[in-house]
Amino acid sequence: MKVLLDEERIHAGVDRLAKELNGIYGERPLTIVAIMTGSIVMLADLIRRLEMPVRISLIQASSYRGGTRSGDLVIQDHMMLDIRDREVLLLDDIFDTGKTLHEVSQRLKQMGPKSLQTAVFLNKLGQSTVAMKPDHVVFEIPNEFVVGYGLDYQDLYRNLPFVGVLEESDLARHALN
Ligand code: IMP
Ligand code: MG
Repeated sequence: MKVLLDEERIHAGVDRLAKELNGIYGERPLTIVAIMTGSIVMLADLIRRLEMPVRISLIQASSYRGGTRSGDLVIQDHMMLDIRDREVLLLDDIFDTGKTLHEVSQRLKQMGPKSLQTAVFLNKLGQSTVAMKPDHVVFEIPNEFVVGYGLDYQDLYRNLPFVGVLEESDLARHALN
């Protein structure tokens, strides 16, 4: 598999984001709302670099029904903490069309947070179809389907410590299984 981002670059990128957030929030408590399942690896790395008191809240949003095509978004928020009057950071693995981050942000705004910012591990350049941009992006990437560091193809590959481009040969191999 072609490696797009190796472990060293990823860790330097997450360090950068953590420094940015430490600078913005200082010692003020932060509630991180992480979109399952893709953001879990970055979540685990990021929170250990944050200096303020952190609360972690989970939300599930699935737009991909097992493949590389986008379907309708299903949001499940039974693991959400109360975020009323809280400073909130919404975290996702990748901003592709932007539909997921946009819809989940709208949902969170209705819960009355004191502030809301968004951060993504990857931003796929030129793909956005919504009128918003993430406030924080760790890496910009070209329009290719990537896996690893939390990102999946049919729920596989999330455990790769690097980000790789899923190639035709990988897809063909999976079609046979
Ligand atoms: P969006 O709603 O189009 O921005 O898509 C965001 C969601 O699609 C992410 O949370 C990912 O789960 C998934 N996704 C988009 N592009 C990729 C990719 O290249 N690899 C793996 N998942 C992706
Ligand atoms: Mg996802």
